[in-house]
Amino acid sequence: MLFVTSEVAGLAKAGGLGEVSAGLPLALRQRGIDVRIVMPAYAEVMAKIPAVAWTGHLPGRAAVPAARLGEVRLPDGMILYLVAAACLFDRRGTPYCTPEGADWQDNHLRFARLSLAAADIAAGRGGLDWTPDIVHVNDWPGGLTPAYMQWDGTRIPTVLTIHNIAYQGNFDATQRHGLGIPDAAFNVNGVEFHGRVSFLKAGSFYASHVTTVSPTYAKEITTESLGAGLHGLMQGRASRGQLSGIVNGIDESWDPGSDPHLPHHFEPDDLDGKQANADVIRTGLCLRPSDGPLFGIVSRLVHQKGLDLVAEAANDIVGNGGQIAILGLGDPEIEHMLSRTSRRHRDDIGVLIGFNEPMARRIVAASDFTLMPSRFEPCGLTQMQAQRYGALPIAHATGGLADTIDDGTTGFLFSNLSSDGLMSACHRAFDAYDDEALLAEMRRAAMARSFGWSGAAAEYDALYRRLIGHQPAPVRPSPRSRVQPAPPVVNDALEVAA
Ligand code: ADP
Ligand code: GLC
Repeated sequence: MLFVTSEVAGLAKAGGLGEVSAGLPLALRQRGIDVRIVMPAYAEVMAKIPAVAWTGHLPGRAAVPAARLGEVRLPDGMILYLVAAACLFDRRGTPYCTPEGADWQDNHLRFARLSLAAADIAAGRGGLDWTPDIVHVNDWPGGLTPAYMQWDGTRIPTVLTIHNIAYQGNFDATQRHGLGIPDAAFNVNGVEFHGRVSFLKAGSFYASHVTTVSPTYAKEITTESLGAGLHGLMQGRASRGQLSGIVNGIDESWDPGSDPHLPHHFEPDDLDGKQANADVIRTGLCLRPSDGPLFGIVSRLVHQKGLDLVAEAANDIVGNGGQIAILGLGDPEIEHMLSRTSRRHRDDIGVLIGFNEPMARRIVAASDFTLMPSRFEPCGLTQMQAQRYGALPIAHATGGLADTIDDGTTGFLFSNLSSDGLMSACHRAFDAYDDEALLAEMRRAAMARSFGWSGAAAEYDALYRRLIGHQPAPVRPSPRSRVQPAPPVVNDALEVAA
């Protein structure tokens, strides 16, 4: 199976997709599937990889430049293919943005290059002695892969996973020539979306099957309010049994008894360490000592996450004896809004602007509750991490939040998306905080939840098997990737694949 992604945690990550791309392929490999990942050779990635075996050349198409394909074996044994085109990927910044936060102007070419490389690998190009039996693409950056495969006649089944339908990769119609899109495909039955070229629409249209990251979100994207204009297409796919929701997992390293980033470890039956972690955070954020509950937020700071509701509810939360610790990065307006809120309550609300994995884990470990008033949330990883660390999530009942939080048992869900709705759930949390037995029981239940990747991997495996069974054989004879043994796990150093 070829896993096509624009982020992998540990190499280059902007959000949850990076975590998924690190966790899911490994879990699939543990099931005996021969998984290989393909991603762009960003400067940030190349700086972390000591040596790459360059396997071949990938031709350009229209304005999409040619690229080199490289192969690397990661420390965990995973084989990674890197698509190297210096003019597209050799620059400072995130996978999608400049260091100043603006989208790269040539993102259409950058991710068409990724998509085309994946399609080329599927067709046996790139000098690899390997072709996949299925291609699994993620989000809009991989969206043109199933389209290029269709136009090139590469008949291998494809899965598109939508991690967030709000990010679509839509570009001006004039770009279609440069992307090598056939005229006949610039059509409602193709890549066209309201007069523009849409990578996500293309993937959603051409993939053999579409998944998203929770069953509830799979239903929500068929509705006008959450389908971001693609609800009609999603309804069609759902009616043909070609849309499903599979909940993500989280990494095993989210273990409060062993996480090396935590100043103090703790267990469900011994929570002294949790209290000690809270004291460390209070001191670090210059909050006053308190016996009241600590509410944590670790989030990308974007409109989706509903943090304006927290700013509105802040007076109430603090007035009831609560404190709030926030770590986040994103939209400057939201950063300023939260900083202003914290300045109004210097002793009780602390905000750290930044992306910092150790600090994220410390805040979750220190918190009694985690606030997630997301307007929509395809899956969400933070609420699962929070439950593992006994930081009971208080969340809007949407998408994966509704699917992974057991209301009243492992957290608190609210339906009315407003600061009043959020506050009503917070009041339930304050009540639980005052009831020692209930709090202990809820923490135990939350921390006992298993959120590993094995369940998701089993569901994807079943889906792949079904699709492979239903498709004609690949265009050219190739070693059947599924039956090859998993590559051996090598030591800590990154090694070039043989
Ligand atoms: P999304 O992908 O929409 O941002 P998720 O909940 O799926 O939301 O995943 C977010 C992931 O990114 C979590 O693992 C979370 O800990 C991490 N994260 C978010 N913001 C930060 C931050 N400021 N610092 C460190 N990690 C962060
Ligand atoms: C997206 C979604 C988030 C999901 C993540 C991984 O970033 O916003 O809800 O958990 O992808 O699938």
